[in-house]
Amino acid sequence: MKCWIIAGIAGYCLYMLAPDCSKTTEGKNAMVTKTLSLAYEKEITRIIKALSLEEKVALLHGNGKFTSAGLPQFGISEVQYTDGPLGIREEISRDSWNPIGWTTDSATFFPTSSALAATWNTVLAYKYGIAIGMEARARNKDILLAPAINIIRSPLCGRNYEYFSEDPFLISRMVIPYIHGVQEQDVAACVKHYAVNNQETNRGNIDVIASERAVREIYLPGFKAAVMEGGSYTIMGAYNKFRGSYLCENEYFLNEILRKEWGFRGAVISDWGAVHSTVESALAGLDIEMGTEAPYKDYYFSDRLVIAVKNGVIDEKIIDEKVRRLLRVLMNCKTGKAGRTAGEINTPANHQLVYDVASEAVVLLKNSAGILPLEPAAIRSLAIIGDNATETFAGGGFGSGVKANYEVTVLQGFQNRLGKRVSLKFAQGYREQYLPVRDSTRVFGREDDPEPDPELIREAVRTAASCDAAIVVIGTNRRFDTEGTDRHDMLLPFGQDELVNAVIRVNPNTIVVVIAGGPFDLRGIEEKATALLWTWFGGSEHGNALADIILGRVNPSGKLPFTIPGKLEDSPAHALNAFPGDSQKADYLEDIWVGYRWFDNRGIEPMYPFGFGLSYNFFEYSDCQTDKARYASGDTISLACTIKNTGTRAGSEVVQVYSSLPEQVKNRPVKELKGFAKVHLQPGEEKKVQILICVNELSWYDENEKGWKLESGEYSLRIGSSSREKK
Ligand code: BGC
Repeated sequence: MKCWIIAGIAGYCLYMLAPDCSKTTEGKNAMVTKTLSLAYEKEITRIIKALSLEEKVALLHGNGKFTSAGLPQFGISEVQYTDGPLGIREEISRDSWNPIGWTTDSATFFPTSSALAATWNTVLAYKYGIAIGMEARARNKDILLAPAINIIRSPLCGRNYEYFSEDPFLISRMVIPYIHGVQEQDVAACVKHYAVNNQETNRGNIDVIASERAVREIYLPGFKAAVMEGGSYTIMGAYNKFRGSYLCENEYFLNEILRKEWGFRGAVISDWGAVHSTVESALAGLDIEMGTEAPYKDYYFSDRLVIAVKNGVIDEKIIDEKVRRLLRVLMNCKTGKAGRTAGEINTPANHQLVYDVASEAVVLLKNSAGILPLEPAAIRSLAIIGDNATETFAGGGFGSGVKANYEVTVLQGFQNRLGKRVSLKFAQGYREQYLPVRDSTRVFGREDDPEPDPELIREAVRTAASCDAAIVVIGTNRRFDTEGTDRHDMLLPFGQDELVNAVIRVNPNTIVVVIAGGPFDLRGIEEKATALLWTWFGGSEHGNALADIILGRVNPSGKLPFTIPGKLEDSPAHALNAFPGDSQKADYLEDIWVGYRWFDNRGIEPMYPFGFGLSYNFFEYSDCQTDKARYASGDTISLACTIKNTGTRAGSEVVQVYSSLPEQVKNRPVKELKGFAKVHLQPGEEKKVQILICVNELSWYDENEKGWKLESGEYSLRIGSSSREKK
């Protein structure tokens, strides 16, 4: 049910640099902003005074792939960095990208950020932060190169799975508790990649052009929340440029916005190999240069930085300030101090957490004829079809992965849950294969081979026809979606459409599962599939979690953190031919119309809308109201609603609140997410849900006035279980 509320906001126009959002739901319930403490400043001053220029500069650049110098004479050991968003990366050789080959560096494989975002569960985000932080400590790490929170701008970005969402509010609310959790474990979070880093194509040099409003309303809020409310100790400067200047030497993003506006007191760390200058970077606010190749003394922030100071181009005080920020971070992590958390790794509790996230992340997109959940007693045989049913996702491709101490595949999940009660038959169904992309002279890439393998399809059809039900597991894997490259198109790869259709033809009880971190074109399968589930690179327990959802042991409650467009050209950057730009420049022509904002304002029907996800239950909304009719700047809107579980199973509902600006605002989005809460209900149970919205969160960025503007007028607040209904 949808409920409409009109909240009349009285008052005057107010210009703000940073709307105060400390009164949002999470702000009240769980969060106390934890910024870097200044308790160690005197000790830091003493250390800085005792160091030579060379000793200070030695602290400011990598001295190994994932290390930078410490100060053993002051009890500070070498600084240990680790990727990343999937868990604690295996140990990499000091001077090459090859794994060292230890047997003691396995870790829990955590569901990717898009999975975490799909839970819409801020408490889980906090627990996730604690668990990953704890594992980082157990492996003696100081700085965790996560969370990665870039906006999912295009379905094609190769790193979408590492990112949270297309929506800045969802990102912000999830990332704050995540960072708190990590840093409570005496590990610094390094939120990345700051900023407007939304494609892999030409990522090393692409110059992003975006309007100030788009930057402020879409691309920066997640980072701002991470810094101002999450208190992230460090932040990673991205590879690309913004308005002509590399992000690691971008005066506007680093000094102006990050430090002056947001008051960031931590360290800015470059992405690996993202630095292009000594003086510009040093003056613009970069603190630490990390890189990919030795010799380290050739780094911009090594000998050249010493020379720049000696030549008087850079004041030594600037070096002192960088050292101070680094030491502040390390001391806040209790480096070299008593009582630092030792951490624990691969614990049953962390595996349980991974299971909880993976199961809450599964999005049920379609369940016609109520085919789900599958009743094990009603079937004697089950076909599990598709290469992704036996695929593992902790590693592969380019970029960070995890040496998972175990990973339950989808097939194993069903074997674990069904044992010998149901006969399980597996067929591979499709083969992952690629074709070279070439011009007349050379091969310069690869693309998936869309031709189905007829023999594998025949085998899949035979298997499906001989079983009571079939599950087809398709989508992408870590070699297909990978750092460093973007997808060529949005089509399902490797002939998966044909496979699904062939299986459906012989077995009407077919359930389709897509595993992916970013949207695919589902037109070829959606209509015919009786049941469709979306899931993710879901971590060590993914197979068990997915089996439990399909078998009804857990009621699905995941909601899409991005829109699934009908076709690629429907999505904003592609409709305007603005992705990936040319080899030099990406002009974000779609402006603030990213994700559902575009689909709403252009009246385009998506395949599945942002925020969408079904349950095996129904939830009824009633008595939705705001506490007052009129609010002023700085107030908090308290919105209450009664939610009732009208089904026969326990389940969770994500209550979503969207607002619209008053009519006089030019170019206002039809709606924007401004609040949400996840509520768990027993069958028949009803609960009153309260969602708090900071009035200042309803401001928009006025480019003419160069500031946030809170408009007087009538605002609509819509409350419901999705950003819109699926047609
Ligand atoms: C990635 C970062 C990562 C770093 C170190 C870079 O290529 O962009 O996300 O943390 O490598 O592995």
